[in-house]
Amino acid sequence: MIQYGVDLLWVLILLSFGLSALAVFVSIFRHRRQRSRTASMPASGDDVASEAARKVLREFEKNGQSVDAALVTWSPETLRKILTEDLPDAQVIVVSNREPYIHNEKNGEVELVVPASGLVAALEPITRVCAGTWIAYGGGSADREVVDSNDRVQVPPGNPSYTLRRVWLTDEEYQGYYLGFANEGLWPLCHIAFTRPIFRDSDWEAYEAANRKFADTVVAEARNERPIVLVQDYHFALLPRMIRERLPDAIVITFWHIPWPNSEVFSICPWRERILDGLLGSSIIGFHTQFHANNFTESVDRFMESRIERADAAVSYGGQTTLVHAYPISIEWPVELLKTLPSVEQSQRHIRERFGIPADAKLCVGVERLDYTKGILDRFHALEELFIRHPETIGKVVFLQIAAPSRGTLPAYKQLHEECLRYAEELNERYGSETYRPVVLVAEHHSQKHVYEIYRAADICLVTSLHDGMNLVAKEFVASRDDEQGVLLLSTFAGASRELLEALIVNPYDAAMMSETMLQALTMGPEEQHERMRRMREIVRDNNVYRWAGSMLLDAARLRKRDELDRVTALSDRSVNGDNVVSMFERRQAVGYR
Ligand code: F6P
Repeated sequence: MIQYGVDLLWVLILLSFGLSALAVFVSIFRHRRQRSRTASMPASGDDVASEAARKVLREFEKNGQSVDAALVTWSPETLRKILTEDLPDAQVIVVSNREPYIHNEKNGEVELVVPASGLVAALEPITRVCAGTWIAYGGGSADREVVDSNDRVQVPPGNPSYTLRRVWLTDEEYQGYYLGFANEGLWPLCHIAFTRPIFRDSDWEAYEAANRKFADTVVAEARNERPIVLVQDYHFALLPRMIRERLPDAIVITFWHIPWPNSEVFSICPWRERILDGLLGSSIIGFHTQFHANNFTESVDRFMESRIERADAAVSYGGQTTLVHAYPISIEWPVELLKTLPSVEQSQRHIRERFGIPADAKLCVGVERLDYTKGILDRFHALEELFIRHPETIGKVVFLQIAAPSRGTLPAYKQLHEECLRYAEELNERYGSETYRPVVLVAEHHSQKHVYEIYRAADICLVTSLHDGMNLVAKEFVASRDDEQGVLLLSTFAGASRELLEALIVNPYDAAMMSETMLQALTMGPEEQHERMRRMREIVRDNNVYRWAGSMLLDAARLRKRDELDRVTALSDRSVNGDNVVSMFERRQAVGYR
């Protein structure tokens, strides 16, 4: 009997060895097959890209991006294929406060302005590909002159590919909704910049009314019951719910372009539950970083009667499931504009001539809206610290700061503008001479073309935000440097620092550390610059804006397919109540998965 037991044990051990060996063999075989398939994949073949994109979709069944997403060469073509093959007939509607093209009246003529906005830089190429409709506030002084009777204008001017539908706001609405609740309330609430948020009842009412106005416009522009609506940013926290109520079968993808605070900070907002309820009308909510996605989920967990399914990155609330994901935003690649720009050498000559920069001085640049989250004053501090610690650098470095005026009627922004002017003047008095100005501050809007020329002329680009969702200036600088030269100083508090690891990462609150890093940048040899820049360019190329949008659209396609499947199953009968997404918990229970 004992011998029989021992024999059985041996048989079991041998059997388990045999099975393990078989499993290893199968896994190696599959891995090899996978690798040979990958290796034989041409980088830019349309069919291959489309097949790879579909494969990603299949592998998206579990939330979180599959490794295969990285194998797709993301381009306008990939995006088009996703739209035609995975979301056929879907109408894409983008909603943002800021419009991609502003028509202003100047000296009796209509002048076209492309605003300084990361959101616009990212969304514009995407909307062109989708041939969709972009709904935005018409804030230009000549905006009404160029629209048709339905408040629409075809853009981009000269080569139209999508419709811009303008929404008009009264001065009062604009004051309460945009300047008030969005920019004096939510903006400082979401950014750690130590500016106190201001919450006024009247601003909240205007915010709600403006969101309602945009919801009416989405419904009016929708060609059917099932559009894909891409809601942009903190101006529209209530809009997803308002759309969901009126177009229950729409896919609403909301992207929050700024950080989301931790739940304790968020709790000070008097309308915190309303904001969360509004956002949870979305099918998908996107953030730049996982950290901010987690903060959002924590806020929901703390303030709403909801169920959080962390493994699926999903929130179930009011019978509907919302996916909460990180989708790092980016820029188009390659940058179309680069084709029209002068060479790096020519750009250097133009910019140095234009701003009076001595030939033997290194050029540091900063480009952004004049905003207290961008750390402009901290940059000036670091420059002064550099001059104090390393006096030999005086006369050898010029800092060109381009600051587009922004939200200029708000006291916090007025004060910042004054402080920047004052400090720049002080630095020039203290360290400058008749022929040398260490700081050139240009508080004016510059076209994208000029901005790219400035990037190409720079030895160093400083992106030292105190807090930033992503920061696309960092990515634009990298994209502009096809000569693979130039150094990027990047704040650890900007989302871009999670991706651009070869930048010199700084803490903008630490002037001494930042000044030493500036010295490191000033003395960095061309070889090291080349190595760092080459690697960062690969990252921006691979994680371009088509990947950002494509990942969200693939997730949307996945939701739509599940939705269609659910319609023909008994499960869908239990999931109705106007929701387009079946609760993941119900689905799991239905398949006996717990
Ligand atoms: O990315 C944040 C953001 O507020 C965008 O929403 C906006 O387009 C951009 O910065 C510029 O700000 P504003 O539209 O208020 O000028």
